[in-house]
Amino acid sequence: MYGLINMAIKQLVIDHYGTQGWQEVKTKASVKEDYFELLTVYDDVITYNLVKGASEVTGKSPVEVLQLFGKYWVTYASQAGYEPLLKLFGPNFKDCLVNLNRMHEHMGAMMPGLIPPEFEISKEISNTEFELIYKSQRPGLGPMVTGLLEALAIRYGITNLELKEMSQESNSCRFLIKWS
Ligand code: HEM
Repeated sequence: MYGLINMAIKQLVIDHYGTQGWQEVKTKASVKEDYFELLTVYDDVITYNLVKGASEVTGKSPVEVLQLFGKYWVTYASQAGYEPLLKLFGPNFKDCLVNLNRMHEHMGAMMPGLIPPEFEISKEISNTEFELIYKSQRPGLGPMVTGLLEALAIRYGITNLELKEMSQESNSCRFLIKWS
């Protein structure tokens, strides 16, 4: 994945466990790099190993680490200069969900090596209740989407988000999302 993602994981670890914590994560993950070029593509193995290393150092499960990372990512991306992109495609939470693919397509113009996730609203039950399918070429990242959706909802002032994972396979997840 792009180095931007690994740098966000690094910052998340530093925010909570300091630079010492980050050194420990790197050691557990057998990752040598201390810095990742934001716009360079690194092997996905590095990202998975960092999640595993963070799990070992913090005692949280890899699922929890991914959820926390998803939550953190929205603020991180906003502060890393992508706030206009977040704003462009999401005047409200529903539009944001509808536009997740377009947001990543847009990123693809700047990041030609991007292998983006795919989202599909498979059922619109009401204006505030949807079934959302997440598909990826990468296995096991569903929990990251849970954190991302929670953080996005908060961005739009939604405090009563109900998020249910209806089904989970290695490379796809179906969520029921409801708010009022
Ligand atoms: C402006 C904000 C965003 C930026 C700059 C951004 C950028 C990226 C980048 C660079 C990757 C790594 C993919 C690769 O290197 O091949 C990625 C992955 C991912 N993004 Fe975004 N993204 C943004 C917002 C979102 C939002 C709002 C979601 C909400 C669900 C999301 C969901 C994901 C997921 C789940 C992945 C993991 C990759 C996978 O599933 O295969 N992103 N994004």
